[in-house]
Amino acid sequence: MNKDFILKGDILYSTEEMIIESYPDSYLICNDGKCEGVFTSIPEAYKGFPIEDYSGKIIIPGLTDLHAHAPQYTFRGLGMDMELIDWLNENAFPEEAHFEDLEYAKKAYSIFVDDLKNSATTRAVIFGTLHKEATTLLMDMLDETDLVTYVGKVNMDRNGSEGLCEPDSATAIRNTKEWIENTKNKYKNTKPILTPRFIPSCSDELMHAIGEISSSENIRIQSHLSENPFEIRWVKELVPHSENYGDAYAGFNALGNTDTPAVMAHCVYVSNEEIELLKEHGTYVAHCPDSNMNLSSGIAPIRKLLNSKINVGLGSDVAAGASLSIVQAMSHAIQVSKMYWRYVNSSYAPLKFNEAFYIGTLGGGKYFGKVGSFLKGYEFDALVIDDSKIRSTRATTLQERCERMIYLPAEYTLISKYVKGQKIV
Ligand code: GUN
Ligand code: FE
Repeated sequence: MNKDFILKGDILYSTEEMIIESYPDSYLICNDGKCEGVFTSIPEAYKGFPIEDYSGKIIIPGLTDLHAHAPQYTFRGLGMDMELIDWLNENAFPEEAHFEDLEYAKKAYSIFVDDLKNSATTRAVIFGTLHKEATTLLMDMLDETDLVTYVGKVNMDRNGSEGLCEPDSATAIRNTKEWIENTKNKYKNTKPILTPRFIPSCSDELMHAIGEISSSENIRIQSHLSENPFEIRWVKELVPHSENYGDAYAGFNALGNTDTPAVMAHCVYVSNEEIELLKEHGTYVAHCPDSNMNLSSGIAPIRKLLNSKINVGLGSDVAAGASLSIVQAMSHAIQVSKMYWRYVNSSYAPLKFNEAFYIGTLGGGKYFGKVGSFLKGYEFDALVIDDSKIRSTRATTLQERCERMIYLPAEYTLISKYVKGQKIV
């Protein structure tokens, strides 16, 4: 497909300073899959580019889901009346065990992949299961969609369930290395990511080996950090010499660095020392507000993390989060930050719309490079949204139309989606 074209519509995007730039009735130029910028009239140099006319529609950057569990999509919206560890044992582990069966995996993953493709997400960082064949199948299917993703074969060699545990660290390491060899150069848009489930699931030997593979092969790591109070106490018992949960990961070389950044989901209870560690390592925090509410985990201190210049993006954490919608995660991020301010610490002001919009677009997008904005040089990931179904006598600015969308997602329709200048929906 030709990657030189122009989208006409009501365009808005965030800058790194979290300022929303609004351009009603303007032109967004795609030059060879990259953004040239937004213009109120077409510059001479691009007059020959074809125009897709989306007049009256909202055009925003694609959204990034920094944390989702593909195999858990089958039970989304079910089994929420538990905290993390019971929820893993009763819901997640038994379901993930089914992915040993490739026929089952194919059916389940085709639904996940199809729904992700048709969602507002353009980039995602995804957990598979511990099964390397099923995870490779998931990667094959995702690559067909032209979404851009990191996908992990999960590692877990302890505290799993009857049908879901790697037999020992040596087997886990061997299978992981083999899977990385087979997938690291296989795809256009899909990359393997090392995925120790969390410290309770991985022996010290396994964690050390993962840290080594990451450093020697420049393969990124994703995991979970400080999600639930019981989990945190358990980690302290499992890694007694660690100062805290973040330090336990750092001791295994699993917090990444600025060239090979790690994603850590949740970070609900991170201390000042852990925040320093995350900053030193350039770690990305995947904020998953829906999941934090559903599993009664707690509220991540996002204002504090933003003040500390930590990289923050949004995650669905399906299926502890019920839905894949990062649009909805934006309003949930604002809402939980208000509860944090009211109930936990009134020195951390609630997030505002522009901040939630930033973390859902550019904050998480940065994990993929120049992604998540329409400034010149950014990869051309764009969503075209129809808001004509909203019935109201109120006159609204473009920014207000977008703000309303995150609270009323059901009243909006995604009509087109572009990733790296490729129209995929
Ligand atoms: N911690 C370890 N595994 C999981 C998981 O599958 N979901 C969530 N929310 N937390 C986890
Ligand atoms: Fe998770």
